[in-house]
Amino acid sequence: MNSFLSLLLFSSLFILTLSHNNGVARTPPMGWNSWNQFACNIDQDLLTDTIDQIVSSGLADAGYKFVNIDDCWSYKNGRDNKTNELIPDPVRFSRGIHSLSKYAHSKGVKLGIYGDVGFTTCAGYPGTLDHFQTDADTFARWEIDYLKLDFCDIPKKVQDEPWVYFGYMSEALNKTGRPIVFSICAWQPKEMYKWARKIGNSWRTTDDINVSWQSVLSIIDQNRELYPYAEPGSWNDPDMLEVGVVRDGRSLSQNQARTHFSLWTLLSAPLLLGNDLRKIRDPDQKWVFDILTNRDAIAVNQDPNGAQGRSLYQNIQGKIDRDGNCESKNCTRTEVWGRPLTRPTKQSYAAILFNRAGPNVDDEKFTQEKITIRWSSLGMPSDAKVRVKDIWSNKDLGVYQGSFTSEPVEKHNVVYIRLEQQ
Ligand code: GAL
Repeated sequence: MNSFLSLLLFSSLFILTLSHNNGVARTPPMGWNSWNQFACNIDQDLLTDTIDQIVSSGLADAGYKFVNIDDCWSYKNGRDNKTNELIPDPVRFSRGIHSLSKYAHSKGVKLGIYGDVGFTTCAGYPGTLDHFQTDADTFARWEIDYLKLDFCDIPKKVQDEPWVYFGYMSEALNKTGRPIVFSICAWQPKEMYKWARKIGNSWRTTDDINVSWQSVLSIIDQNRELYPYAEPGSWNDPDMLEVGVVRDGRSLSQNQARTHFSLWTLLSAPLLLGNDLRKIRDPDQKWVFDILTNRDAIAVNQDPNGAQGRSLYQNIQGKIDRDGNCESKNCTRTEVWGRPLTRPTKQSYAAILFNRAGPNVDDEKFTQEKITIRWSSLGMPSDAKVRVKDIWSNKDLGVYQGSFTSEPVEKHNVVYIRLEQQ
């Protein structure tokens, strides 16, 4: 057996004994979260409109089922005097959170909420430390389906042993008897998997993403070695999507957004949209909608085998500095990523041929590049015959023996292919 397949087999056997098994998130969760576009500017009207839009636009049918409220939803000045429970902000969420979850459920979608394992959330709202069961019970009573628990304003004991405190919440959620996706947000690439996957359904692997190409690249690089730790019920979380987000006048280009989405689907990342869904049906947002609803890309992400894509090879030519700039006359920087699939057949794979180039797309030292993938790098026999489908153009490109070489790929763009061994 080749090394790629044996590693996958080994890692899945290993993880089966360790992963969190609360029965939910057997494929990466898909939905929307308020933070990337709106930060603290949230209220019940935004959430209600988003629930309406995620359903009427067709995004829910494409798989995006969670509508998740991030930081700043609660009453900032404290808990209920008598019950010690968290209170929704009396002005911005005057109808309460339960009314929102009832509304979401009546439309066939789910509601998520946010908390913090420390004294206060990152934006200074009451945290859950010492109130784990109270808050879990409140969320269950409100019929919440997803909890993101953050890591701000923590005492040293939580810093030293985060697994103990996230573990309290994991147990408290289990005790409620309600299936609630538990998303751990402790922003650490290293060693998180050793504890997080025993108690959570996903764990953030990095600092916050922002609307920039540099941020997307840095997160891709930090997730490069984490493929052994994902599996049904437990996912590395490279943070939420920036496709279509416009913040402080900044946004990703169409190629960059397509690349970001392609990698996140291949990496088995939770797919949480960050853009303003009230605008998703505007004509100038059609490209955003088309990226987010590509059926084949979503099928890769949701493949039941839960295998996280891995970097197969990188081709770096010329002298490239730490920031990715070319210091020679010309440079090439391409990458090939891949993963096995179980659909449409058991001999299926997905691969990304990525022209990473330099940080600036108009840098003429980098050019469009043809990129080759050899079937052996995915564990197939080196003379295998493989049918290649282009995921973004939705075209059948034919059957190729041994390898496939793309047409020139634009800078910051990918060719995303689905492969079926014949
Ligand atoms: C950060 C977290 C973000 C967002 C923010 C809210 O710690 O990584 O995704 O939740 O807090 O204040």
